[in-house]
Amino acid sequence: MNPLAQQLNETLTKDNPHVAQMLSGLGKAIYMPKLGILSQSAEAKQKAKLYNATIGIATENGKPMHLDVIQETLSAYDPKDIYEYAPPAGKAELRTVWRDKMLVENPSIAGKNISLPVVTNALTHGLSIVSDLFADVGDAVIVPDKNWENYELTFGIRRGAEMVYYPLYNSDNRFNSAGLRDSLLAQKERGKAIVLLNFPINPTGYTPSLEEGLEIVAAIRDAAEAGINVVVVTDDAYFGLFFEDSLQESLFGHLSGMHERVLAVKVDGATKEEYVWGFRVGFITYGGLTEASLSALEQKTVGIIRATISSGPHPSQTFILHALKSDKFEAQKEEKFHIMKGRANKVKQLLDSGKYGEEWTYYPFNSGYFMCLKLLYVEAEAVRQRLLNTYEVGTIALGTSDLRVAFSCIEEVNLEDLFDRIHQAVLDVKEGKV
Ligand SMILES: Cc1ncc(COP(=O)(O)O)c(C=O)c1O
Repeated sequence: MNPLAQQLNETLTKDNPHVAQMLSGLGKAIYMPKLGILSQSAEAKQKAKLYNATIGIATENGKPMHLDVIQETLSAYDPKDIYEYAPPAGKAELRTVWRDKMLVENPSIAGKNISLPVVTNALTHGLSIVSDLFADVGDAVIVPDKNWENYELTFGIRRGAEMVYYPLYNSDNRFNSAGLRDSLLAQKERGKAIVLLNFPINPTGYTPSLEEGLEIVAAIRDAAEAGINVVVVTDDAYFGLFFEDSLQESLFGHLSGMHERVLAVKVDGATKEEYVWGFRVGFITYGGLTEASLSALEQKTVGIIRATISSGPHPSQTFILHALKSDKFEAQKEEKFHIMKGRANKVKQLLDSGKYGEEWTYYPFNSGYFMCLKLLYVEAEAVRQRLLNTYEVGTIALGTSDLRVAFSCIEEVNLEDLFDRIHQAVLDVKEGKV
């Protein structure tokens, strides 16, 4: 094994031996080279004031070389903030500004040791790095039965982990922390589990209450006390879009440092929060370890980035940093929040109005971009087809009975028409029309 990787593993083993055991084979082997091209270039950037002939970019007149056809559309930005490679860990200032934002928005992180967020090529990439670092063939990845389908590819197909499902809701239509606990305790022989928590959840738009959140934390503590090493990943893709009286922050703060067998990993980013889906800016943050161990995990994370994409896109990191530092940012986000909340409320009002009879129920929702109908008498896929072919409406069929509706992309004034059409399509399918 490379001595640098060995050194990182030794740091983890000394301070947090259970966390060292959580690493996958790849996670153990990966490191960020200290003496490679990047470090020599970084050194030269500081000291080579006359000629810096280190890195593979081109320069002209003391600036990164660029084409006017590109720069003329980006003239608000200095070429150095657009064209140069961003560091593999991401723009330094963006990392600190994101951490500051995280601390303000998640009061329970206060007093906990957390790493500096590492910039990823958005959340999928962050999840994929977590999968590389911690998932080996046959490891259990515990997710609710309603989840974002891409977890299966990221952890199951790509790394050979075994997906373990528990019902998202219990019989009281609350978060099923007993189901999570059972799935976790079933991993006792393996001695390890990866738990993915995603609130607001895709697809049903649910965030637990504080009480339910604490039940989740307790379930994870029970598993840790039973001797299971648990990597808990909070996928906070839809963070901040909390429309009702649910938890208003990530469980990452509560999970960080709660037990020596629990590693808290926060995967979040600008994608959905800042409405910049195509920018591809996300972050990975580790919580609750010693500074040295947090730094070791950070270096392993950057090692995976260097080995896969080398570094994330620089322009979008610059755009996000600019937005986060702008004094208009908060007000503009607040405005969009109210639009989203207005849509969620309208959907609920329509569904509770009695207008749609007994054709469906809906899963509890209070946050995020989506809600899910549970169709009682017809197949979701048949309704989806009918909606597309007859009513020009697109929805997502999940399993046999669930239809996901993204109210995030329907104007509030059109929501009633949308649900009228869905209702009509359900009646059509029930009557045998296809
Ligand atoms: C729960 C969840 N996590 C992660 C992602 C991926 O986000 P990104 O587009 O930043 O990769 C999505 C996108 O749909 C999502 O729904």
